[in-house]
Amino acid sequence: MVMTRNGTKIVGLAPDRQHGFYGRDIVSVRQFTREDLSYILSVSDEMRGIVRRVGATDLLKGHVLANLFYEPSTRTSSSFSAAMSRLGGSVIPIHGVQYSSVSKGESLPDTIRTLECYADVIVLRHPEVGASEVAARYASKPIISAGDGVGEHPTQGLLDLYTIRAELGAVDGLHVAMVGDLKNGRTVHSLARLLRMYDTRFTFVSPEILRLPEENKLELAEAGRPFAETDNVEDVIGTADVIYVTRVQKERFADLREYEAVKDYYTITPALMSRAKERMALMHPLPRVGEIQYDVDDDPRAAYFRQMENGMYVRMALLAAVLGKA
Ligand code: NCD
Repeated sequence: MVMTRNGTKIVGLAPDRQHGFYGRDIVSVRQFTREDLSYILSVSDEMRGIVRRVGATDLLKGHVLANLFYEPSTRTSSSFSAAMSRLGGSVIPIHGVQYSSVSKGESLPDTIRTLECYADVIVLRHPEVGASEVAARYASKPIISAGDGVGEHPTQGLLDLYTIRAELGAVDGLHVAMVGDLKNGRTVHSLARLLRMYDTRFTFVSPEILRLPEENKLELAEAGRPFAETDNVEDVIGTADVIYVTRVQKERFADLREYEAVKDYYTITPALMSRAKERMALMHPLPRVGEIQYDVDDDPRAAYFRQMENGMYVRMALLAAVLGKA
């Protein structure tokens, strides 16, 4: 692999160079074209086929992933770790940064430069917006963002896109309702950014103080995608093809009284689902803390467990792609 240190990672003889993922950082979904998306979705399909048929492959044998998490995670960290294992590679897990040299005051660039001595790719979750871009500037190995504060969560956006296509057969023509903490929910920011590349329309359902940021609304307007805002989930229940529910992000509130005031704003119940379209997908990036009642889980339209399974296939595809083996 031939790399420069100035942020543009130049690739030597890349086995998959026609797709340009080799050696690339994944820090925002803004970097993708429709062509990139169809490539990743189809490699994810292949990965699902491999796992379902034989469980694993040795495509990334001898490769090492550093999984560096400065914020809590269950699904993202374990699915990246499982993805690497199922591709035959191995993982350096750093989940409790309080037990690493970060607690001695080590800076993010130094931690990244350390890990890239040992690993071929680094997955990073960090509380600051833009942290993965900073890390990518210092690293010569690919950085994959696993969420940067209230910014983006690009791999979750990709797995959400994959799930929408898997559940409903296509993405064009859909009415997508996003519900909950649209202000702080980084998964919402990435998914809305991805879906604007398709012929979609949106309804954003949230209390006033948790509305989608202006920046995202501007991007949708520029892409010519129609959207509406409401504070009432009843307005979308009968017409949405996708209802994407999110948790109110308690950890982003400076004043916990504000959180208390909005935390129980929405609950998806079986009664509400009885009024939803027969063919639709109810999604959630998880964890849930009351937004979807447990007795909705048996509804065939409840896609959130399939959604998290898909996360592993999409992350397998991304790891193979950035390491030039897809
Ligand atoms: C999300 C996240 O971390 O942004 N979780 C996840 O990765 N599936 C959503 C959340 O924490 O609410």
